Amino acid sequence: MTLTLPKAELHLHLEGAMTPDLVRLFAARNGITVEDGLYDENDRYIWADFPQFLDCYDRASGVIRTRQDYSDLTCHYLVQQAKIGALYVELFCSPSHAAMQGLSFDDHLLAVADGIDQAYQQSGIIGRIVMTCVRHLGPEQAVDVARQTVACSHPYIVGFGMGGNESLFTQKDFYPAYKLAADAGLGCTTHAGEVVGPESVWDAIDHLPVDRIGHGVRAIEDEKLVAELAKRGIVLEVCPGSNIALSVYPDYQSHPLRKLYDAGVKVTLGSDDPPFFHTTLADEYQRASDLFGFTDDELRGMTRTALQAAYVDAETKAVLL
Ligand code: HPA
Ligand code: ZN
Repeated sequence: MTLTLPKAELHLHLEGAMTPDLVRLFAARNGITVEDGLYDENDRYIWADFPQFLDCYDRASGVIRTRQDYSDLTCHYLVQQAKIGALYVELFCSPSHAAMQGLSFDDHLLAVADGIDQAYQQSGIIGRIVMTCVRHLGPEQAVDVARQTVACSHPYIVGFGMGGNESLFTQKDFYPAYKLAADAGLGCTTHAGEVVGPESVWDAIDHLPVDRIGHGVRAIEDEKLVAELAKRGIVLEVCPGSNIALSVYPDYQSHPLRKLYDAGVKVTLGSDDPPFFHTTLADEYQRASDLFGFTDDELRGMTRTALQAAYVDAETKAVLL
């Protein structure tokens, strides 16, 4: 029974944690009608492939209008995670998405920070922020996000990352943004090796100051890369449920989680965008046990790997470990 195991989440997109219930709540209080075709009668978001998922994500985010919305979303999500044994969560927060909803960088940041505080008071869970740029919005937007992130130096902002459409631009194109973030002492991660093959992981580890990779699972297609990841101790934020939902792999038997682990690559479990991918962090741990044969001790080890790779300050980390 994995529910009682301590857990940590390093790969969660904040708007991606928004359930259709929250979409309805935010829409109602903001006087917005939820558009048809966003989710079906069983509350399953409707999309068929990666670009459609990204579009669906943006359309769902369209009901967020206020600081209260971001704060409630953050608190609601974190308190739920505490209930399933999570000790620590890093939230991928996108100022570009907030800006699309008319919220400034500071409004968005302070709202999320408020949600983190409330959740901590209610449940003891520790949340921190990885500010993310959106790859398909281009390198200049990324520099903008990095500049604002570095300028505000809020204690809850512990990292810098990048989501969005992996097929556009190269990782290297985003070096100026990542350099700003890394020079300011932020931990850096990027999505790679999910939709695009091992070359995108090489591109990331050769050109960006990253010590974690979001997904990275397609590294398995390149033996040399697997060895390099293991040698350099680069941590993969693996999200099997997301990979199956997005058809990166046809089924769990084909998913390389176990192979990467056995090859000595540091792996953690993440849920990415849970209601969009019909998963939760608890499901990820449970499936790792049921379908990949990880023992409770190995799962505790993965949580430990996640806490060690977390970008939270050393003092807080020491308490968590
Ligand atoms: N992948 C890439 N970019 C994203 C995602 C994701 O799952 N969610 C939000 N932006
Ligand atoms: Zn992701």
